[in-house]
Amino acid sequence: MAKLKTSWFCTDCGNESPKWMGRCPACGAWNTMVEETVATGKKEGPKSAAAVSSGRSPEPLSGISFTAEQRISLNNAELDRLLGGGMVQGSLVLIGGEPGIGKSTLSLQIPLACPDLKTLYVTGEESAKQVKLRADRLGGATENCLIYSETLMENIIDQAKAIRPDLMVVDSVQTMFSQNVESSPGSVSQIKETAAMLLRLAKETGIPVILIGHITKEGSIAGPKILEHIVDVVLQFEGENRGTYRLLRAIKNRFGSTSELAVFEMTGRGLREVTNPSEMLIPMHGDGLSGVAVSATMDGTRPFLIEVQALVSSAVYGTPQRSATGFDVRRLNMLLAVLERRAGFKLGMKDVFLNMAGGLKVTEPACDLAVICAVLSSNFDFAIPSDVCFAGEVGLSGEIRPVSQTERRVTEAARLGFKKIFVSTYSGMDQQPDGIEVIKVADIPSLCRVLFK
Ligand code: TYD
Ligand code: MG
Repeated sequence: MAKLKTSWFCTDCGNESPKWMGRCPACGAWNTMVEETVATGKKEGPKSAAAVSSGRSPEPLSGISFTAEQRISLNNAELDRLLGGGMVQGSLVLIGGEPGIGKSTLSLQIPLACPDLKTLYVTGEESAKQVKLRADRLGGATENCLIYSETLMENIIDQAKAIRPDLMVVDSVQTMFSQNVESSPGSVSQIKETAAMLLRLAKETGIPVILIGHITKEGSIAGPKILEHIVDVVLQFEGENRGTYRLLRAIKNRFGSTSELAVFEMTGRGLREVTNPSEMLIPMHGDGLSGVAVSATMDGTRPFLIEVQALVSSAVYGTPQRSATGFDVRRLNMLLAVLERRAGFKLGMKDVFLNMAGGLKVTEPACDLAVICAVLSSNFDFAIPSDVCFAGEVGLSGEIRPVSQTERRVTEAARLGFKKIFVSTYSGMDQQPDGIEVIKVADIPSLCRVLFK
């Protein structure tokens, strides 16, 4: 019998260490090392695979013949756009997210939407019957979609090689295991091995593979973090799974741009594409609500408008509270300090709550201007007209700085019926676009003079 050997793995970054450590030396996370058995003695799997001659040898870059990568359309405009124009043959795509957010739903909708593609759907979490029930709910069944309930990777690879599907889905990486590794399914070494086997399959056969992976809020289970290095594309579901909207973001893409965002709505019949997210993020209420300002932000290459809500009230306790949902609370504190020091607004003794509507996380500084306007609007109980929006970064000296792609933001705002947009004086927009008035402001005092006159 092979002698058992154990190693310690960081559940955040997958770093391996021969002994336990309180802090992972690679990523600096505390208390993330877990002990796992690793096979020793005769280790056949990966070694023998690596030893197989591929028949390839190094060749000069100029001599490599180039054909554009073959992409298949998944008949889902949002998903295709996220992947950079369809799924590349032989690519391994990881879909990550918290349990219950819709990973299985989305990955079952793909074969149902593509009845022409022969799909192998491997389920390790649900039985074939459960998958059938879900497919019925999603309103479809196709001859070409093969359901395979299995968790042993060796069998899955054999079946895939025999069937040669056009597309393969594996749900989920945490339930799969390989005989080459002696730890239990879901452990760091099993997850790495599973992903490596699927990667080898994808590259050897050209079958595109969608792999599903769970992450928990605490990140305590080894998950997609470790896989990010291995796979070609990482799509991650973001935000809370309580609302009906689901945001899917490309955080790594070897075949397209990252930080693209797709929006889906969870309905009784699965996930529906939301092709115009601005309309969902801006509720159709009339004038008269204070504490609301609309920001023209960019997410990836797509502009969209989002409602920023603020509530400013007198602090009940000695220390005022500052809280922000979907926005960096340190940046909020910075903006409040700028308002106090550079424009003389006394907010030091006020509670400030900030919320980005729709559960979206905004990291772009272009949202600063709308945040400041929402805070001031709530503070003075002065409603900003609902046809006004903002795009600008606020600097430490209270100046309003230009943001990237101002034209596209302005065009999107005009398309959605906004009549005025506030931007920085320094943004190089020469001509006035039709249908919308571009108001240029240099600093916070001049903004207030125009807005709250
Ligand atoms: P699921 O895809 O099972 O999540 P994951 O695989 O990420 O764990 O999604 C489960 C949730 O989606 C569950 O709460 C029920 C809901 N749902 C719908 O609202 N409508 C539907 O048509 C389906 C299939 C699921
Ligand atoms: Mg699932």
